Amino acid sequence: MRTVSVQLGNRSYAIKIAPGLLEQLGAECARLKLGDRCAIITDANVGKRFAKKVFNSLAGAGFSPVLIVVPAGETAKNLKSVQSCYDQLAAHRLERKSFIVALGGGVVGDLAGFVAATYLRGIDFVQVPTTLLAQVDSSVGGKTGVNLRAGKNLVGVFYQPKLVLCDLDTLKTLPEREFVSGLAEVVKYGIIFDAKLFAQLERDLPEILKRDLETLSEIIARCCEIKAEVVSQDETENGLRAILNFGHTIGHAIENSSGYGKFLHGEAISIGQVAAAKISQSILGLPERDVERIENLFARAGLPTQIKLNPTLHKKLFAAMMLDKKVSGGEIKFVLAEKIGKVVWGQNVSTASIEAVLATDAHR
Ligand SMILES: NC(=O)c1ccc[n+]([C@@H]2O[C@H](COP(=O)([O-])OP(=O)(O)OC[C@H]3O[C@@H](n4cnc5c(N)ncnc54)[C@H](O)[C@@H]3O)[C@@H](O)[C@H]2O)c1
Ligand SMILES: [Zn+2]
Repeated sequence: MRTVSVQLGNRSYAIKIAPGLLEQLGAECARLKLGDRCAIITDANVGKRFAKKVFNSLAGAGFSPVLIVVPAGETAKNLKSVQSCYDQLAAHRLERKSFIVALGGGVVGDLAGFVAATYLRGIDFVQVPTTLLAQVDSSVGGKTGVNLRAGKNLVGVFYQPKLVLCDLDTLKTLPEREFVSGLAEVVKYGIIFDAKLFAQLERDLPEILKRDLETLSEIIARCCEIKAEVVSQDETENGLRAILNFGHTIGHAIENSSGYGKFLHGEAISIGQVAAAKISQSILGLPERDVERIENLFARAGLPTQIKLNPTLHKKLFAAMMLDKKVSGGEIKFVLAEKIGKVVWGQNVSTASIEAVLATDAHR
């Protein structure tokens, strides 16, 4: 088992990574002396595969779990689901000392984390991420929340879990497209923080795509270490944590403008990271060779690296980008790369520079 610790004073916690961990969840929660009652919040897809195992593990360790199932998918990450969770927690009389287990991908993690942060002004929670994206990104760092009709993640709170348990076996049933999408965040960690990791990904990509457990374990642990390091230096995103948004300004605009479900998050940020690399080349002198390596790695992973823009989509994409929190005075703040493994944040980029790289893509 690999263990990574997130250092946040008295809110520090461990991320444990290994196959077969679902069976040990009960024992782990007992070790942390979490309360005697708990609720498992999961989605319909994940629940039918893993809820029984998790339920039995918790029951076997003396907890009396209740199961709350929300519909699968991003559309369930809303206040209606939050309300439904609150009602079920209250109906089962869960108290201050109870805790919540978030079993699922980023949707369940963000939703269940937000419920835990607010029910009775906050009860403990444990993340049990079951997608690659959730294991390397969303389950770590304490961002929780839900979407409004006006946009994604507009309501939320920073609230750290007591434990993150990544059972590598759960990745076996993940649909290929979801798995590959999660790789976009993995590659991101290489670009923003760790040239060695990037080179390892270039080398080990075939094993990763075969979902070789030992390779995945090592890589997931390294990604969690990087996220933990960044979060412990800047928990509430006043500075350094912004580097985690590399490729996300364009990526979010792609997600928002192309219509729900067209691009998965990882696919959108893959295009966004390639575009950010090209902008980095023109503004910061990121070497051409690095831009090529970045583009090639995403392409070899099976991720899209460019987007075809027709005039309508072009207009929508730039409108979406201008609504982003990071815009001021017509310039957008970007995270840009100096070289693979080293980025800087807060770089002003004009819409013309963005247009230049996206337009080249469109005409290839
Ligand atoms: N809190 C953060 O810091 C943070 C960071 C990044 C992303 N996010 C959020 O994460 C969400 C995306 O998360 P996601 O990509 O995990 O999506 P998701 O939770 O919707 O999961 C993707 C799909 O895979 C299914 N699934 C999950 N685990 C499975 C398994 N082991 N086997 C088979 N099917 C499985 C789910 O039911 C769902 O249909 C977004 O809402 C995003 O905003 C949050
Ligand atoms: Zn992301």
